Amino acid sequence: MADKDSNKEAADYGIGVPVTKHGFFLKGLDHVDWGMKDRLSRIFNPKSGYTVMLAFDHGYIMGPTSGLERMDLTITPLIDYADCIMCSRGALRSIVPPTSNKAVSLRYSAGTTVLTDLNDECLLDIEDAIRVNASALAIMVAVGSKFEAKTIQNLVRTADLGNKYGIPTLGVTAVGKELVRDARYLSLACRVCAENGATFVKTYFSETDFERVTCSCPVPIVIAGGKKLPELEALELAYQAIQQGASGVDMGRNVFQAEHPVAMIQAIRAVVHDGRTPKDAFDLYTTIKNVK
Ligand code: R5P
Repeated sequence: MADKDSNKEAADYGIGVPVTKHGFFLKGLDHVDWGMKDRLSRIFNPKSGYTVMLAFDHGYIMGPTSGLERMDLTITPLIDYADCIMCSRGALRSIVPPTSNKAVSLRYSAGTTVLTDLNDECLLDIEDAIRVNASALAIMVAVGSKFEAKTIQNLVRTADLGNKYGIPTLGVTAVGKELVRDARYLSLACRVCAENGATFVKTYFSETDFERVTCSCPVPIVIAGGKKLPELEALELAYQAIQQGASGVDMGRNVFQAEHPVAMIQAIRAVVHDGRTPKDAFDLYTTIKNVK
């Protein structure tokens, strides 16, 4: 070896200095493996503890919905402002520049569309998820529906693969037409996801008692935005969710269908990461929107 004769004798052993312990910042995830924590730290900002995810996976069941007809024009400009993007592998490969270097929550289950019975889904290929460097595997879980058992089996299988390769599993609670989005149902669905191995859970906000949903779920929850609301109301929804224990948002239509999507995602960030009030964030939205 080149330094064989000039090797400096080791002397600084730090005797008496305790070894630094690194706790993990996300609820219920102290004991997951290193790769899992690394990926989670790309999805959630370790400084604020929150995430703003941008969802544009709607096309995998709905086709070209409003705002997603030309994702290269409407979504690509928003990517820089998201902490994580949630999309199908088709959208990822066709319109997301790999140089954006964003965490990707990959749609990892697929099956029926809005034309038939939703949620009859199978899994994608784990090697393909690894190939695109997925930071999370997003699985539809339809608790209480005809495909309840099948979608829970999909979640279990995904969590096993995710644990094997260090990739978090995102359990996405699907709400069938016949089910009510109240705190009682959402608590049950989120808890089922967590108990079966979801690393974090995506669900809907409930008008009442949402805190019960977040408190009874042992892992972080992010909320979907749901149908398009006036911008101020969407900011209020995000604010209420965060105040009541959500660890972030995974919003689609309330961002890409906003009058000014680039301003909207920045306003959402202000609520989620900076704790700004809905009114403050709406002022920010208006200011950015009016810059020519
Ligand atoms: C639903 O399962 C999909 O994951 C959507 O991406 C999700 O609902 C979020 O989109 P939105 O905020 O438009 O509800």
